[in-house]
Amino acid sequence: MANPDNQSMENIITVDGPSGSGKGTISLLLSQKLGWHLLDSGAIYRVVGQAVLINGVSLDDHGAVAETAENMNISFRINSETNEIDPYLDNENLSKKIRTDEAGQLASHVARIPAVRAALLTKQRSFASEPGLIADGRDMGTVVFPAAKVKIFLTASAECRAKRRYEQLKNKGVSANIRALLDSIKLRDERDKNRAIAPLVPAQDALVIDSSDMSIEAVLDQILDYSSNRLKL
Ligand code: DC
Repeated sequence: MANPDNQSMENIITVDGPSGSGKGTISLLLSQKLGWHLLDSGAIYRVVGQAVLINGVSLDDHGAVAETAENMNISFRINSETNEIDPYLDNENLSKKIRTDEAGQLASHVARIPAVRAALLTKQRSFASEPGLIADGRDMGTVVFPAAKVKIFLTASAECRAKRRYEQLKNKGVSANIRALLDSIKLRDERDKNRAIAPLVPAQDALVIDSSDMSIEAVLDQILDYSSNRLKL
């Protein structure tokens, strides 16, 4: 294969940032607007967390967690009712289970293990196919698609992100407490920023957007405008 990692594909937009920065919503809208594929890499780490739980693997056994990540049967299917992309482990739809705060914490734990990140690299890169890819995560622009021509780092204050997460969970019918969410976001930020491998940092060539006081439409417009100068949209 000439290009096993799809690194030379032109149309890749990476959208990295902390939890609740709005990157999930923005990435979905971008993929719908451009008709491109979507990689929700956080969902992959969340599914690894669930697979570890289901198989009773200890988080301390890094080799076994990485093996679980390597061998799990994960797939993504479009939900015709919500138009969202649901993650499946074997034939179980995990879209609800992985969206809890506990599932996010567990994902952040497994994501610290270097062998897990290595095991997921090929899986993530395989999402890059024509006509293009929106890659949502923490290290899309720094590690997974370093050659991408458009890299966005989306951020917002922790308070603003906790409020957004609260609304998001409420809309999905999941109960939540805003103070607990804020504490949890700060804890997860610390872990994601300070881990030894692929920490949450903007790529040097990323456009950093603070969405705290911006509407979704304004963020989307800014990204499309920026991208149209760098890609053939
Ligand atoms: O984007 P998210 O909240 O669904 O991600 C869940 C966790 O997965 C996050 O706390 C850190 C980890 N993650 C990662 O380390 N690298 C990615 N590219 C995506 C997510």
